[in-house]
Order: sequence, then C-alpha cells, then structure tokens
Amino acid sequence: MSAVLDAIEVKKFGGELSQEAIREVVNGYTAGEVPDYQMSSLLMAIFIRGMGYEETLALTRAMAESGQQYSFPECVDKHSTGGVGDKISLISLPIAAACGAPVAKLSGRGLGLTGGTIDKLESIPGFSADLSEDRFHRQVEEVGLAILEAGGLAPADKAIYALRDTTGTVDSLPLIGSSIVSKKVATGAGHLLYDVKCGSGAFMKTPEDARELAELLVRLSESLGVKASALITDMDNPLGRAIGNALEVRESVRFLTGGEVPGDLDHEARLVAARLLELKGVGEPEAAVEKAISSGAAYDKLQRFVNAQGGAADDLESLPLSEEVREVAAPRSGYVFRFAALGIGRASLTLGAGREKKEDAVDPGAGVEVLAKVGDRVEEGEPVARLYGSRDPGRAEELVREALELSDEPVEAPPGILDSL
Ligand code: URA
Repeated sequence: MSAVLDAIEVKKFGGELSQEAIREVVNGYTAGEVPDYQMSSLLMAIFIRGMGYEETLALTRAMAESGQQYSFPECVDKHSTGGVGDKISLISLPIAAACGAPVAKLSGRGLGLTGGTIDKLESIPGFSADLSEDRFHRQVEEVGLAILEAGGLAPADKAIYALRDTTGTVDSLPLIGSSIVSKKVATGAGHLLYDVKCGSGAFMKTPEDARELAELLVRLSESLGVKASALITDMDNPLGRAIGNALEVRESVRFLTGGEVPGDLDHEARLVAARLLELKGVGEPEAAVEKAISSGAAYDKLQRFVNAQGGAADDLESLPLSEEVREVAAPRSGYVFRFAALGIGRASLTLGAGREKKEDAVDPGAGVEVLAKVGDRVEEGEPVARLYGSRDPGRAEELVREALELSDEPVEAPPGILDSL
C-alpha cells in the first residue's frame, strides 16, 4: 500500500503517524504524486482524530523543509492570526527595527475578513513585496526591515492549505499550528512573537481556544530552534479606527508621527514592539520604544523600508481613498457596548477592501472608519462610521448598522490584551 493509504488507515482509527510516514506523505503531495482525494481524506481523518504533539511537530518540520529555507537568526518577526483593522505589523516592526532589532518578515495577502499586510502595503504606489532572496538579504542588512510575500517558502503548506480551504479542514488546531509555524521557520527569523486574536472577528472565538493555539505555536517554534512568545488580544471589536488598506497605512503613519489614535491601538502597538525587543534581549524595551517614536526614528525606518521596496514614501498620510463616501448615523443615543469586528470586517469586504476568493481584485482606497469606540457616548443622528468604496455601499451600511450595539448604561472599554505567554 502507498504511504498515504497507510497513513489514512492509521489515522482513521486514531493511531499515531510516524515522522517518516508524515514526511513521505508531505513530500509526495508537494511533488504532485499524492492525489488530492487521498490527501483530503487524510486531512479529514486528522481533523476528526486530532494529532499528538510529536506528530504535529513532524508535520511542521516536513512542511518547513519542503522548499527553500532562509536563515536570519539575529532577526525578529511577528505573526498575527488575523484580525479586523490589525495594522500592528505596520507600526511595531519599524519601531523594533529602529531600536536595533532587524526584521525579516514573510507576509500574506488577506482572504475573507482579515486583511493581509501585503495588501495594505500595496496601497502605497510602487510598493512591491516580490523580492529575490538576494535582495531580501541585502535589505535586511542595509535597512533592517524587509517584507517578502509568502511565495516559494514552505510550498507544502501552500498546497495543503489550498486543499484544506476547500475541504472543510481549516479549523483544526494541529493543522493551523503546523501551517503557521512551518512558514515562520522557513523564513528563518530567530525571535518570534505570535499575536493570537480572540473574539467574533477572529479564528479563535474563546480565550481558552486562543490560549491553546498560542501554547502550540510557541512550543512548536521553540522545538524548531526559534525563540518565541505570544500575546492573546481582543478581536471582538476592530483595532483602532481604520479598516481597509490605505486607511490602515494612514492610521499607522499617524501613530508613528505622533498623531492621536484610539487607546486600544496605541497600547497594543507599543506592547508588541516592546515584546519584540524583549525577545531580542534589548534592555529597557518600553523606554526604547518611546524614544523611537518621539525621535521620529521609527517613522524614518518605515519610510526607508517603503522606499527600498519601490514605494513612494513621501505622502503616506494622505494615500488616496475612494471618492464614494457615506456616513452611518447612530440610530439612538447611548454608550457603545460593541461595534462588532465581524460585521465591520464584512462591511469592509463588501466595500471592496478585501477578497472573498483568491483571484478577486482589492480596492486599496476602500474600507471603514469607525468613529465611535466601545465606551464612547453617541447621540442620535451622530455619525458613528464613515464608509469608503463603491462595491456595495448599501449592503455595507446595513452591516455596519447591525454591528453597532448601544447601551443605556455607561460601558467600560474592554482590555485589549487578554493573556500573555
Ligand atoms: N493561517 C495559516 O497560515 N494557516 C492556517 O492554517 C490558518 C491560518
């Protein structure tokens, strides 16, 4: 019998797969020798039966080693499991790089609700994340910050993820954990911070599930020689005010140039930057972060990085937005109890800021600006959100209205950081 048929027999009865069997199946699938129907049968058996830690580690290693592997032991990187309005990478990575922690980052495009860092950066005219290995290395050395599109690294994960996406096998803890860590290990940064999002707008809906994933990500990374830690952060409400590609770059630049941003974004961006410095062993990380922002060094780093990757870095705070704009008004007076990330994310997608299918085009100037955050008092008729984009603004408006929950009693803003390890 072939390795994959053997593996299906073992897994469907809840048995444990050997490292050799996992490697053979992963390599066979990547080489096109294992057909989709057998691989999807195995994935479904794994989804139902689960995998032990050693099996998950073997799968991670086999996928990480399925293609090219880079090595940047001195670099830091962060990975977010995906959220609505999550522009923390755009802010915290230039800060870390300005503080002497070089960044070699692999990023993806958004699919569904959550935006991808590459889509955000591509709202800057001329920006490209298609770098050769040589250029990626050189930029890390010369600028201290480079972001590459997840392409040729961990090709096994790319193929398996595409199959999972169409066979109902995405939401399995060992498959998610091995998928994320294999890409990170292949990119080769020596210090990694995971930001596991939790709430209505995230993969993980409960703090318990988010913690389980965070623990797995850290354990797999450490087993594969990467120093790692994790934060679990709230994604019941969008982060900051801006959701959408150009809108999020503008808000990031506002923060890095000393402008005001909502407290949830301000707090999380500073904390993530400080945690990256801590992982790298930089002393007094909080003070270093403050200095990098107030001196302009972090913004200067962002501009140098954007320039190095072909982008026009002079006018980042006024990147063009869609000319089709409408405001959504509060239906009554009250305190904002929730402005659900799920609904706002869907509205932004509907306006054209994201893609429902991989081949969809993205409108860089589309998105939602949230004008009222949890805890704010709003009066009837006052604008609570501004919508940009022409794809289906009527439907987007409905979604935003449904996302807003008002209370008659004062509401406290939720803690942005739910847990840490
Ligand atoms: N992100 C990934 O990279 N892989 C998954 O399986 C889920 C989210």
